Amino acid sequence: MQIFLDTTDTAVLKDLAATGLVDGVTTNPSLIAKSGRPMLEVIAEICDLVEGPVSAEVAAIDVDGMLAEGRRLASVAQNVVVKVPLTRAGLTATGELSREGILTNVTLCFSAAQALLAAKAGATYISPFIGRLDDHGADGMGLITEIRAIYDNYDFDTEILAASIRSPAHVTASALAGADCATIPPATFADLFKHPLTEKGLDQFMSDWAKTGQSIL
Ligand code: E4P
Repeated sequence: MQIFLDTTDTAVLKDLAATGLVDGVTTNPSLIAKSGRPMLEVIAEICDLVEGPVSAEVAAIDVDGMLAEGRRLASVAQNVVVKVPLTRAGLTATGELSREGILTNVTLCFSAAQALLAAKAGATYISPFIGRLDDHGADGMGLITEIRAIYDNYDFDTEILAASIRSPAHVTASALAGADCATIPPATFADLFKHPLTEKGLDQFMSDWAKTGQSIL
């Protein structure tokens, strides 16, 4: 499963990308607002930091506006993926952008029927929002399972990008459910490395090693 970071914080991104485990980045209008920086500048900087796909979301909600913004965003770098909301206008724009060879990420997906339409529109990625569904009292992970089954039934190429991830357990469950990618907040990504038994075991090994008085080098 590919791991994307859901962030516009380029300092944090640079630090975490050094692990070699970050395959791409997603952003959204809220994260752009949080950065306090001009969107095109942030997206260009992120695209310089990671070779993989970088999702940048349109702000227009009409087809012509989404197409114009999508083409502009795609011109920033070859790894930009144009993020489009899952609305009727959004899927019309997705179809046109896809025909133009522009990569697309259809966002704010909350049902399997929506995901089916996005795949038919030619979306490169579909982003089901797991955490927000759970918050709403629904079964976020169940949605990933349903979309996986539908896409496999019809051999759709659209990749399932598990979004709105809130915990390491969400990451594990997404992988088990067959998501192609997960976009993860930086703090949750950092938590993926941790286990109390790893820390306890390492403390013991270091303590015992010190008693030997040896040096490997
Ligand atoms: C994904 O593309 C979205 O930017 C993100 O995962 C939304 O997460 P949130 O529900 O925590 O805001």
